[in-house]
Amino acid sequence: MTSAPQAAADFVKETAPGFTPRVGIILGSGLGGLADQIEVVASISYDDIPDFPRSTVEGHAGRLILGRLGGMPVACMQGRIHYYEGTDPRDLAVPVRMLKLIGIEILLVTNAAGSFRKKMGPGSLMVLSDHINFTGLNPLKGENDETFGARFFSMEEAYDPILREHLAAVAKELEINLHEGVYLHYLGPNFETPAEIKAFKTLGADAVGMSTTPEVLVARHCGLRVAAISNITNLVAGMSKTKLSHEQTLECAKLAAADLEKLVIVFLETLKRELLKAHLRSTENGND
Ligand code: HPA
Repeated sequence: MTSAPQAAADFVKETAPGFTPRVGIILGSGLGGLADQIEVVASISYDDIPDFPRSTVEGHAGRLILGRLGGMPVACMQGRIHYYEGTDPRDLAVPVRMLKLIGIEILLVTNAAGSFRKKMGPGSLMVLSDHINFTGLNPLKGENDETFGARFFSMEEAYDPILREHLAAVAKELEINLHEGVYLHYLGPNFETPAEIKAFKTLGADAVGMSTTPEVLVARHCGLRVAAISNITNLVAGMSKTKLSHEQTLECAKLAAADLEKLVIVFLETLKRELLKAHLRSTENGND
């Protein structure tokens, strides 16, 4: 029987024959605008992709866009599902595995998050250096599919140090203040209590949100290189008087959206140059 990721990948490949994306991008709450910058080859509703899980959350359009961004062939997911939507955690493996099967080598994940640092307020961007999966859930639970990866695998350097360096260099060039820190995944759908926030601070969290870790776990399991960026929409509960709500998240996601778009586009442009150089070096060495 064809697996769900394979059925989804077959459909996507038939829709855009001959197109091979190298980078997958997952856009978080209120960050869908980046998709408007893509030179579109194909735009596919999640509803049309067989066996593909669909988000019920406002601000998550539910489209897979194939095309070029910063000159790089990309597959961009405009919207994602979350554990709190009640889906089987294993469903969250489908989108990333589909992206792997259609050819991506790098996954760039974005999310909206609350910040534990006063100096990293709404409108800031944070590159993830690591994460704490506080949900107790895992999309890889159950029988292991060896075709994607080994049962047990390391999560050291899950957030690729070289990609993080590239992002930092691009941010510097663009004069964007790019923070770096640890993201804690809280199940949601409620925002945290101030007591939980106090506890998470002692655990080492710099930002908190309700997504990202499932996709990163699935990506690392199948050997994809990963980078992730949080768009900080608020200071965490108890640190400011702002009342937290999804509307507040969507509204404040706009603050750093332009910086995030520039950062991602120039990052992809430099990545394309680097990949080209590496390819040329390998052909010069007769490895092609
Ligand atoms: N907590 C959890 N998720 C979030 C937050 C937050 O403060 N802000 C945006 N997403």
